[in-house]
Amino acid sequence: MDILPARTNSEAPWDLFDSDAYLEHNYRSLRSDDAQILAAVRDHFLAELDGTADRSLRGIDVGAGTNLYPSLAMLPWCREITLFERSARNVAWLRTAVTGYGDNWDAFWEVLRAGNGVYARLADPRGRLTEAADVRQGDLFDGLPGSGYGIGTMFFVAESLTTAHEEFETAVDVFAGALAPGAPFAVAFMENSLGYDVGDLRFPACRIDSDDVLASLADYADQDLRVERIAIPGEPVLREGYTGMLLALGRRKGQ
Ligand SMILES: C[S@@+](CC[C@H](N)C(=O)[O-])C[C@H]1O[C@@H](n2cnc3c(N)ncnc32)[C@H](O)[C@@H]1O
Repeated sequence: MDILPARTNSEAPWDLFDSDAYLEHNYRSLRSDDAQILAAVRDHFLAELDGTADRSLRGIDVGAGTNLYPSLAMLPWCREITLFERSARNVAWLRTAVTGYGDNWDAFWEVLRAGNGVYARLADPRGRLTEAADVRQGDLFDGLPGSGYGIGTMFFVAESLTTAHEEFETAVDVFAGALAPGAPFAVAFMENSLGYDVGDLRFPACRIDSDDVLASLADYADQDLRVERIAIPGEPVLREGYTGMLLALGRRKGQ
């Protein structure tokens, strides 16, 4: 059953987001497109943070939903990771998940561990996530709980919370504006998505491509910002209509 199509962020039924259905559909097992993204994020963070002490940074994942892999990718360097989320149901899911995450996330951690370095040295990611995680409920359009984060992620959020292009841009502004100068970041997007179903409800999306992603981050990122395109693999499609995933990897401008 679809409700009337939502347009702006505040019109969508975020508190009714079916966390279990979303997890089952997206993260019950590791898809090859997520594995590609995770490996690219891992290599980006390893290259950017080479020599940075373990547990020296504060990280943030904006719109965490029921996805733990962005936080796992930041984990070795973070003493604290804020998992910021608007939906009451997703916040409840996150608060339970970080106390000892499910076995499905082990395959995601294996991709990180295969990168060696700090990932391979971290023996107990489950326990470390419990120590580091700080789940916060809030609306990013009201601002994030802190600023000057040393590392950050935002996955499938800015383009997947509204049909309004201005809100997509504002979401990227809020995320990038909260990072410290020099902070490495990874931001993932659905390309050309027009919306998605979670359980029985429809949620909005804003049609964007790699030019939109580059434009949205241009004022915030150092010149080595890059956007990778991940084609839809030969696995069940995640949403109707989207044409792939986009991954922006960069570092916040200004040292
Ligand atoms: C498509 S889901 C992505 C979830 C997760 N990051 C992932 O990678 O699968 C979009 C997420 O953005 C959250 N969200 C929507 N509007 C938000 C807002 N204004 N502030 C913070 N989070 C928001 C939703 O509750 C949902 O968890």
